[in-house]
Amino acid sequence: MKNIFPPPKPSKPWNSRRKPQLIRSHFIFLSITLFTLLLLCFIVYSHIPKSLLSFSSKTLNSRFPPCQNAKVLTTDQKFLFYAPHSGFSNQLQEFKNAILMAGILNRTLIVPPVLDHHAIALGSCPKFRVLSPNEIRIAVWDHLIDLLQSGRYVSIADIVDISSVVSASLIQVIDFRDFVSLWCGVDIDLACSNDLNTQRALFDSLKQCGSTISVLNGRGDECLYAVDEDCRTTVWTYQNGDGDGKLDSFQPDEQLKKKKKISFVRRRQDVYKALGPGSKAELATVLAFGSLFTAPYRGSELYIDITVVPKDQRIQSLIKSIEFISFVPEILSVGKRYAVETIKAPFLCAQLRLLDGQFKNHWKTTFLGLKQKLDSLRHMGSQPVHIFVMTDLPEGNWTGNYLGDLAKDTDYYKLYFLREENELVTQTAQKLVNAGQGLRYGSIPRTVDGVTRRKKICSQRFSDVLLYIEETVCSCASLGFVGTAGSTIAESIELMRKFDETRKILRAEEGLANSAGNGPEARIHLNIRIKIVHNL
Ligand SMILES: *[C@@H]1O[C@H](CO)[C@@H](O)[C@H](O)[C@H]1NC(C)=O
Ligand SMILES: *[C@@H]1O[C@H](CO)[C@@H](O)[C@H](O)[C@H]1NC(C)=O
Repeated sequence: MKNIFPPPKPSKPWNSRRKPQLIRSHFIFLSITLFTLLLLCFIVYSHIPKSLLSFSSKTLNSRFPPCQNAKVLTTDQKFLFYAPHSGFSNQLQEFKNAILMAGILNRTLIVPPVLDHHAIALGSCPKFRVLSPNEIRIAVWDHLIDLLQSGRYVSIADIVDISSVVSASLIQVIDFRDFVSLWCGVDIDLACSNDLNTQRALFDSLKQCGSTISVLNGRGDECLYAVDEDCRTTVWTYQNGDGDGKLDSFQPDEQLKKKKKISFVRRRQDVYKALGPGSKAELATVLAFGSLFTAPYRGSELYIDITVVPKDQRIQSLIKSIEFISFVPEILSVGKRYAVETIKAPFLCAQLRLLDGQFKNHWKTTFLGLKQKLDSLRHMGSQPVHIFVMTDLPEGNWTGNYLGDLAKDTDYYKLYFLREENELVTQTAQKLVNAGQGLRYGSIPRTVDGVTRRKKICSQRFSDVLLYIEETVCSCASLGFVGTAGSTIAESIELMRKFDETRKILRAEEGLANSAGNGPEARIHLNIRIKIVHNL
C-alpha cells in the first residue's frame, strides 16, 4: 500500500502563488493528523487483539487521505469513480453498470477513457482470483495518467453515444480530465504544453494524486469513500424485496476455500442501503468502486443483479435506456456506408477470434460454426456468398486453414475485410478527434473559482477504431452473423443486431428488391433508401 505521508509538496508552477497559505495549512493539517493518529493508536491498542496489530497500523494511515488537494471541489456535488478494465466490450458493459450505479446513488459519474486492450485484467471471479478493489484502482489510475501522457486519451463518450441518457437528465456526468483538474488542483491543459518540465511536473503531480483515490479500503470521510466489496463478497441488488443481506446462491466450495485459504461468503446487498442516503458513504464527495464487471454464472450474477425495479420509475427507465448504447454517429455512418456501398450485396458476417487468450486453442470449433453456416447458405442462395470477415489473424497467416480455403474459392465466396491502415479507418479516427464528443458532456460546479473548463485536445491518437467499424458492419449483415463462442465482441454484435434498425430495413428492402427482380434499378433504389433513412 502506498504511504500517503507527507502530503505532496506544493512545488508545482500552477499553485506557487498559494505557497505560504499551503505551508500553514499543511502545518495545521499535520498537527491535527498527528494528534488523531495518537488517539487512534490508543483506541486500537486497547481494542484490537495483538495478532492484528501489524496489519492495523497499516490501515490506520488510510484514514487520512490528503484531501486538502481536493479543496477546489465543492461538497454539494457528489461523484462516482470506478475502475474499468479488460477489452473494449467489457469496458462498455462496466460503463453501463456505472451509469446505473450513478443513477441509483444520485452521483455524478466520472466518465473514463477507453483503456488499452487488456492493459488491466481483473482475474477470474468464479475462481475467486481477482485483483482487490484497491489494487485495481491503483492500476487503473496509473494507466489513465499514462494515456494522458502519451496522447492516447480517448473518452469512452467519444466512442459511444450517451447523449440520450444525459439529455433526459437520467444521470449527470463529468469527463475524467475535468474531474482530475478539480480533484488534484491542476491545470490539465498543461498536458499540451511544449515545455517538458511543465509537463513532467503535471504528470508527477497527477500520479501522486492517484494515491488519494486508490488508498482507503472501505473507509470513508467527507472526501472519499472507497468501496471494499467486490465479486468475492457481494452481489449488489436494488429494491429486491427482503433479500438484503441474504447469502447468494453461488458460493466458493469447500475445496476452493481450503485451497485459497479464504472464508469468503457472498451476500446480496442493497446498494442504496449500503452506499446511499443514511450510510457512511453518502457523505463522501467521491465514492470509488473497484471493478463493476458482472456476468451470469451458475444461476446467479457475479457482482451486480439489478434488472427490474418496478418501484422506482426513474431507475427503471435508466435500465431501459442503457440496455443498448450505440456507437456515436461518426462510427455508425462509416460502417453502414461500407455495407451499402462497398459490399453492395446481402452478406454474412464472420467474427473469428483466433489468437487472443483461450481462443487460440479453439480454431476447430470456431471454423466449424462458420463452415456449417456457409454450407446452408450455399444450398439456398445465389453465389458467390459475400462474407465480411473480422479476425485478429493477419492475412499472411490464412494459408493452410479454412480462411485460406475460402479466400481461394473465388467462385463460391467473396471475402471483405478491413485493416487498421485502411483510409476509411484512419479518416474515421480523425473525425472522432474533431468531434470530441466526450467533452460535450458534464459540468464543473459553478462555485469553483480559478479552474477553467478544459478547452484543448492535444495529440489524440485513436486505436481500436477498426473494431468499432467492424462491429457496425456486422450489425447490418443481412445473411446472418457467425461469432466466436465466448467472445464478448460476439456478444456486443448480437446486441447491436437486436437493436439495429438498418439491418431490418435492409432485409425488408432486399425482400422487395428480390420480388421486383434483382436488377440494378432495385439496387439503386435500395441504396438511395438507406441513405435517406440514415442521412449518410
Ligand atoms: C440528486 O442530487 C441533487 C443534488 O446533487 C438533488 O438536487 C436532487 O434532488 C437529487 N435527486 C434525487 C432523486 O435524490
Ligand atoms: C503468422 O505468420 C508469421 C510470419 O509469417 C509467423 O511468424 C507466425 O508464427 C504466424 N502465426 C500463426 C499464429 O500462425
